[in-house]
Amino acid sequence: MPTRPQPPTDLYRPERPDQFLTQLTRLSRVLFFLLALPGVRRTSRPPAHVPAETPLTVRARRELAADIVEFTLAAERSCAPLPAWQPGSHLDVILPSGRMRSYSLCGDPADTTVYRIAVRRLARGRGGSRELHDAVPPGTRLTARGPFCAFPFAAEPTVLFLAGGIGITPLLPMVREAARRGLDWHLVQTGRSQAALPYAAESAALDPTGTRITTHHYDTDGYPDPAALLACAPRHAAVYCCGPAPFLDSVRRALAARAGQPLHAQRFTAAPVAEGAPFTLRLRDGTRLPVPGDRAALDVLLDARPAAPRSCRQGYCGTCRLQVLDGTPDHRDHILTPEEREAGALLPCVSRAKEGTLLSVDL
Ligand code: FES
Repeated sequence: MPTRPQPPTDLYRPERPDQFLTQLTRLSRVLFFLLALPGVRRTSRPPAHVPAETPLTVRARRELAADIVEFTLAAERSCAPLPAWQPGSHLDVILPSGRMRSYSLCGDPADTTVYRIAVRRLARGRGGSRELHDAVPPGTRLTARGPFCAFPFAAEPTVLFLAGGIGITPLLPMVREAARRGLDWHLVQTGRSQAALPYAAESAALDPTGTRITTHHYDTDGYPDPAALLACAPRHAAVYCCGPAPFLDSVRRALAARAGQPLHAQRFTAAPVAEGAPFTLRLRDGTRLPVPGDRAALDVLLDARPAAPRSCRQGYCGTCRLQVLDGTPDHRDHILTPEEREAGALLPCVSRAKEGTLLSVDL
C-alpha cells in the first residue's frame, strides 16, 4: 500500500525557534512582571467615558406655556429605536452653536421613536434656551448624548410630587408611571400663573377623579408655603421635588422638621459645595488650578478646559470621569465602585481632595 505523504515536521512547530520571537516573548514577560509589582504606578489612561451620541432632528415644536416650548426630537435616519430611558432621565443636547445643555425627558419611555423635552426661555441665561427658542425650527439637526438618569423613580407605594414651574418635566413621566402602577400619588404643580403652568392638561388627564392634583399660582395664591404643600400627602409619602433652587431649598427645610420622610430632588443647577476645603488640581502639562473651598473642581477645570466633558454635575452619570495620577481624593460621587476608586477614577463635579493637597489628574 502506498504510504500517504506526511507534512514536513516543522510545518506547524519549527524545530529551530525564531530568535526574534523568542526575544520578544522574553521581553514581554519581564514587562508584565514589572507592571505586576505592587507600587508600580500605571499611568496609562483608562478607557475614556464617552457617552454615545445620537443624531436627532427636531420633528415638531409646540408652545406649552408662557416662554416654554416643547421640542419633539426624532432619530435623524433609520427606524431603529432610540436609546431607552426611565422616568427622571435627562438628555444632553448639543445645539447648532456647539453649546451643550441638559434637559429632562418628559415624554413616554414606552415611545422609542421620539424624545420630548421642554425648554423655558431664560432671557438672561447663558444663551442655550434663547438659541433653542429663536434659532431651532423643525428640521434642525441636533446631537444628543445619553439619556442619563440622575433622578430615578423608586415607585414607593405613596408618593408626593412637588413641581415648581418647568420642574414638572422630570416628574411628569413619574406621575404617568405612578398612575400606571396604581400607586397612591399626589401632584402639586406650582407656577407664576395659570398661563405659566406647563403640561397642566397632560397631568390632569392622568387624574380622572380630579382628586390627585393641586395647582398653586403665585399671582393669585402667593408664594407657596412648603409646609402646606407637604400636607397634601400623608407623612410617610416619599417626596419627589423639582424646581428652582429657592423652591427646592424651602421644601428641604420644611421636610427637615418631619423626620423620616424621604426626599428625592433634582436641581436645575449643581448643588452648592458642602464642607469643601481648598486644594490644587494639577493637569498633565503641569498646569496648577487652585480649587477654592466653595467651588467644584469641575467648575475650576472648565475655566481652563471649556470642552471638558460633563453632564449631570451631581456625581451620577460618570461623564466627567478623570484618572488620578497622584494624590488622595475625597470621593463624593454616587456611582463609582470601590474597585474603580481604588484604580484612580474620580468624578470632579462633586469629588475633591483634602485641604491643601495636590491632586494630579490625567488630562
Ligand atoms: S458630570 Fe455627571 S458625574 Fe460628573
